[in-house]
Amino acid sequence: MTNKMWGGRFSKATNELLEDLNASIKYDYRLAKYDIEVSIAHIMMLAKSGVIQKEECNLIVDGLKKVQKEISDGKFEFKKKLEDIHMNIESRLTEIIGPIAGKLHTARSRNDQVATDIRLFLIEKINGLVELIEENQKMLSQQALDNFDAIMPGYTHLQIAQPITLGHHLLSYVELFNRDKLRLTDSLKRLDESPLGAAAMAGTSYPIDREYSAKLLGFNKPMSNSIDAVSSRDMLLETLSNIAILSVNLSRLAEEIILWVSTEFNFISLPDTLTTGSSIMPQKRNPDGAEIIRSKAGRVIGSLNTLLVVMKGLPLTYNKDLQEDKEPLFDAIDTIELSLRVMSKMITDMKPNRDRMLQSAKNGFSIATDIADVLVQDLGIPFRESHKIVGSIVSYAESNNKSLDELLVEDYQKIDPRITIELVNKISFDRIIHNKTSQGGTAPKNVKKEAEKWLKALKIK
Ligand code: ARG
Repeated sequence: MTNKMWGGRFSKATNELLEDLNASIKYDYRLAKYDIEVSIAHIMMLAKSGVIQKEECNLIVDGLKKVQKEISDGKFEFKKKLEDIHMNIESRLTEIIGPIAGKLHTARSRNDQVATDIRLFLIEKINGLVELIEENQKMLSQQALDNFDAIMPGYTHLQIAQPITLGHHLLSYVELFNRDKLRLTDSLKRLDESPLGAAAMAGTSYPIDREYSAKLLGFNKPMSNSIDAVSSRDMLLETLSNIAILSVNLSRLAEEIILWVSTEFNFISLPDTLTTGSSIMPQKRNPDGAEIIRSKAGRVIGSLNTLLVVMKGLPLTYNKDLQEDKEPLFDAIDTIELSLRVMSKMITDMKPNRDRMLQSAKNGFSIATDIADVLVQDLGIPFRESHKIVGSIVSYAESNNKSLDELLVEDYQKIDPRITIELVNKISFDRIIHNKTSQGGTAPKNVKKEAEKWLKALKIK
């Protein structure tokens, strides 16, 4: 039997292997609810424009709602023979309401249909991602507020650099994720146009009202060019790019969590619920969640790459290659959603080990730069000179097994007799950290204010 939706000119059935290759139903079934929404808007538009009768429209809308119910109830049988979600739905509609169902495909094509479905899918998913990002931002801001004064070493080159507060460090991710969020919400502006009514590629001679169907679907307006409407997938690429950047950002936080829970750092601990054991080494508590999030960035970048390569060099307008947009998109979205969900749990439940972080900052000579600054200010010497003096102080402390804030004035004077007791009194961890009050700096009072600002902004929304 030839395909009942398009088999008119065919006398033989499709080869089974081709059918396997060509069918998209095993993944595009996920577009069902959008496809039905699009069909209802289309048929209502046709009735309003006088292309079909009101009664015919009612019959078709009722039928589509029945199909939707079967799908939601898990009673719908998706058939590979019917290739994709669009033909599966139309075929079932025909079984339910009879040949009148054939009027649904007037003045449209699967080409504008699928482009519209996928936009609706994207809009819903992007809004969901924005919420998940905000959840992470809230949890990070709360931890930042709880730890606005928890001193830890800040790193450059993964070498201890300067003391910072944990709150300050966590808030830097709130800022980073905020840009991820802004990129995603900004893309919604470009998604706000409906491809429906472009038909196969050239538009149609039926007196359709694209403004009306666009409005019914919640779009701001119809897309202006029918060729662009059916052949573009740049909005999918844009979303995948945004998700890929987000996944890279998440992977950096994941990596820090992995470092921080290690025995060597021991800056935070994660609860049993968010770690896993080893089947051979009984002592282990592995941060598998963070490791998987770190690695999933590779997968998401792969999805972006897949679609970029599919699109490269494709002539306009519709080509079946475009069907290959869905699997990478769905996979990237599912992956990032789960990663964001797990990440927000890890952030909420991580317990910082304040003593250990402070100790580590002290052991790492992290206030050396600040001592150099005090020498510049108090002795009126050039920074290069004070850098050299502090270099000698660090090496003195190191060979005497002391941290910098443990050195006494006598120790300092061995290096440089100009150093006074008043000067040495200025060298304390607490003082140094509290003095970093420049805008965007790590002083606890800044951090507290910033954390409160974020929590307020995120809660009010
Ligand atoms: N399943 C197809 C896709 O996802 C729908 C559009 C088919 N159009 C066509 N002219 N064969 O791209």
